[in-house]
Amino acid sequence: MDARACFYLLLPFLVLLARGAGAATLSFTSKCPYTVWPGTLTGGGGGQLSSTGFELATGATFSINDVPDTWTAGRVWGRTGCATDASGKFVCATADCGSGQVSCNGAGAIPPATLAEFTLKAPGSGENSIYDVSLVDGFNLPLSITPQGSGSGCTTTSCAANVNSVCPSELAVKGSDGSIVACKSACLALNQPQYCCTGAYNMPATCPPTNYSKIFKDQCPQAYSYAYDDTSSTFNCTGGASYLITFCP
Ligand SMILES: *[C@@H]1O[C@H](CO)[C@@H](O)[C@H](O)[C@H]1NC(C)=O
Ligand SMILES: *[C@@H]1O[C@H](CO)[C@@H](O)[C@H](O)[C@H]1NC(C)=O
Repeated sequence: MDARACFYLLLPFLVLLARGAGAATLSFTSKCPYTVWPGTLTGGGGGQLSSTGFELATGATFSINDVPDTWTAGRVWGRTGCATDASGKFVCATADCGSGQVSCNGAGAIPPATLAEFTLKAPGSGENSIYDVSLVDGFNLPLSITPQGSGSGCTTTSCAANVNSVCPSELAVKGSDGSIVACKSACLALNQPQYCCTGAYNMPATCPPTNYSKIFKDQCPQAYSYAYDDTSSTFNCTGGASYLITFCP
């Protein structure tokens, strides 16, 4: 094979290398007046990211640069009120992952937790990356997702309101000082089929919004408020973008 043929054969790989070999970046920052410990999870049996948990002080930033640009069933959340207990275990008042460490190591957030959800598609694949903010597992802190770059449809989505401040007492999770630190979904708190979209309510057509899901939707219109919330809560963006997650935007 001559050098020219060899070059053309390798060209697609050289392009991939120049682009960073199929990696996306998740960047994090926090404007919360308290420290947040973000967690990350790859769902569905996929490999975990290089960081599954870290500390983020007020105003700090952090990046994970080796996120696959095909990251699927990806989730990010923020733990609050964390400390190492007397037995040496790292525990959090909200959205703990139960690992006993700052790293979550493949464990997800224990609800209630505000979630940022991602299914990324490679650039040039012809498919859009999808992202949303979900309150289906309840709420613990405000967050936003901002795609980086200029792809089409790449708009910010957020739950910027503090839902804890309007959380009905039957859904409220209280911290050690008695203040409301998180707000359970009605499904988690009351475990009834009309709130969980189970049984006779297991289809979008038979599981309408409820007085509880409406509280979440009123506060955060862009976020998923229950399992079959309308699809306006799903955002999509032409492939390959990286994303900024801001806590307390
Ligand atoms: C929601 O509706 C249920 C059933 O009608 C009622 O028991 C509950 O008090 C209502 N809660 C709120 C917060 O409106
Ligand atoms: C992507 O977003 C556009 C505009 O919001 C919408 O029309 C389209 O249906 C969405 N596509 C997917 C796959 O969600």
